[in-house]
Amino acid sequence: MKSGTFPIIRDKIVLFSGMAHPTLAASVAEKLEISLGSAVVDRFPDGEIDIKLNDDIRGTDVFLLQPTCPPVNETVMELLLLIDCCKRASAGRVTAVIPYFGYARKDRKDEGRVPISSKLVADLLTTAGADRVLTLDMHSAQIQGFFNIPVDHLYAKPVMINYLKTLESRRLTVVAPDAGGIKMARGYARRLEANLAIVDKRRDSTGKTSVEHLIGDVEGSDVIIVDDMIATGGSITNAVKIVKKFGANKVYMCATHPVLCGNAMERIEAADVESVVVTDSIPLGDKKSDKIQVVSIASLLADAIRNTHNSESISRLFDF
Ligand code: R5P
Repeated sequence: MKSGTFPIIRDKIVLFSGMAHPTLAASVAEKLEISLGSAVVDRFPDGEIDIKLNDDIRGTDVFLLQPTCPPVNETVMELLLLIDCCKRASAGRVTAVIPYFGYARKDRKDEGRVPISSKLVADLLTTAGADRVLTLDMHSAQIQGFFNIPVDHLYAKPVMINYLKTLESRRLTVVAPDAGGIKMARGYARRLEANLAIVDKRRDSTGKTSVEHLIGDVEGSDVIIVDDMIATGGSITNAVKIVKKFGANKVYMCATHPVLCGNAMERIEAADVESVVVTDSIPLGDKKSDKIQVVSIASLLADAIRNTHNSESISRLFDF
């Protein structure tokens, strides 16, 4: 549907949740001091998605919270239908709040005859009728440019730094597990007044990576390996092995999105790490481990939603 068709006529935030992460949506609603919008997101007997909003949303400022995490095709489609549903119900404005943006890793043609999946997802969200997108630690920030609607890109860094500052460490090095993670790792290193090192990671196939070199010095240092996500856990656990090989002391992992698919849990259990800190951008479900610590992004999302609604700065949330 065409975006921006209906003006906001009621000064009211309405927050709905898809099925991907109702717990996070409920926490965000609590921080906003509102009740979660009432909607039925169900399945027809053949598996098609059936949606019905129980609230009148005409003219309101609607936020739809749905990380597009596994089962990714289901969560993406649910979000598209929710957007369509809100536009057809004459919402004043619809913002897709996507704490984890799936399909983000396929953001360019890095070989012949492959799709640019994140561009297609951006087009689908816009075509469905999203007026804005609010997301967090996307795999690559330039995906914002795939949208012709405003995208606010949040960072989990303030929430993570609060946790990481509680770790007692005399000498600390932040490690990027690959060249693509340097900017993120540099930001953490600056905030933690730590050194920076980079793992030379090569991707052998979609699910397999290998490492040989480490740029920087970790000898005798406590190390925090920082990444946007842990999917199969290959990248981050290979990084653990190499920093240990080069003399790292205690090693911590810090990753915004706990996708945790394939052998990730076994790899984390077997890894020589003190702890793994992740956010609640994706529900952990039954993936439990004493090593995994979860910090919540609910307040950050609530602040960003409130500021969007009030036309206030989002970047101010990161002035720290
Ligand atoms: C890669 O470029 C990303 O930043 C992550 O390092 C990667 O996607 C994590 O995937 P996995 O856990 O399967 O190695």
